[in-house]
Amino acid sequence: MTEKKHTVRTLQQMRDKGEIITMLTAYDYPTAKQINDAGIDMVLVGDSCAMVVHGHPNTLNATMDMMVLHCRAVSRGCNRTMVIADMPFGSFQYSIEDTMKNAARFVTEAKVDAVKFEATPNHIEKTKAIVQMGIAVVGHVGLHPQAVGALGGLTVQGKSVDTARKVVSEALALQEAGAFAIIFEAVPAKLSAYVTRKLDIPTISIGGGPGCSGQLLVTPDVLGMFDAFTPSFAKKYQDFNGLMKQTFAQYRDEVLSGAFPAEEHCYKMSDEVMEKIEAEFGLSLIHI
Ligand code: KIV
Repeated sequence: MTEKKHTVRTLQQMRDKGEIITMLTAYDYPTAKQINDAGIDMVLVGDSCAMVVHGHPNTLNATMDMMVLHCRAVSRGCNRTMVIADMPFGSFQYSIEDTMKNAARFVTEAKVDAVKFEATPNHIEKTKAIVQMGIAVVGHVGLHPQAVGALGGLTVQGKSVDTARKVVSEALALQEAGAFAIIFEAVPAKLSAYVTRKLDIPTISIGGGPGCSGQLLVTPDVLGMFDAFTPSFAKKYQDFNGLMKQTFAQYRDEVLSGAFPAEEHCYKMSDEVMEKIEAEFGLSLIHI
């Protein structure tokens, strides 16, 4: 495991050597710090934040201000894991200038190492423009959750010839535009393995199967902290919701029974000071 911060070069080297790249999402400092210390290579501050942290029904509710704030917290926790900001809906759909300004905000205000966006063929010029500014870009093909309205749901992409062609051609165009890695979301495993072999840059799977250069999951899915919607490709490693509920119920019971706070949770003061206060203001603790 490298002790230095990951860069586009170290990730490319990992891919070239056949080393598998690991990636998770994070939205806050404490989680980012544990992800960093656990040796995960990349962290995505995803617009999934709108759902898993803010409780919205979809990712369309993420805003630039929301994402910059979360990215700032995550960046502070990562001294070796590369931090990627997810550009929210509305931050890259308009002009190239707007897209460039929003990408720059993530770098200057939130200190991220790269940006990602759900680039369709319409956004290839924007990818090029951001790369030309000197900002590293991660592409994203397959399922674009920001297009949930047009797609009619969050479903697998690339099963038909037309949709598979779209995945392949978008990935090739993104590589050509200068993206240094591409996320494959909800794409048949065979197709992402095929595109991974065609490309020269790392591919990261979230529901794209084991044939990609790396794997990504949404951390609240991994920890069992989000049960409003769990995609079939997600794996729940822990039951943090259950643990939280149990812990909060135990705290409530202890407060109600008087078991908390105990003596070790209380600050001490001398009897002398207390006696003076009682003498000055009246009322003695002895009589309470
Ligand atoms: O917002 C997010 O977490 C994402 C991943 C699902 C790729 O975009």
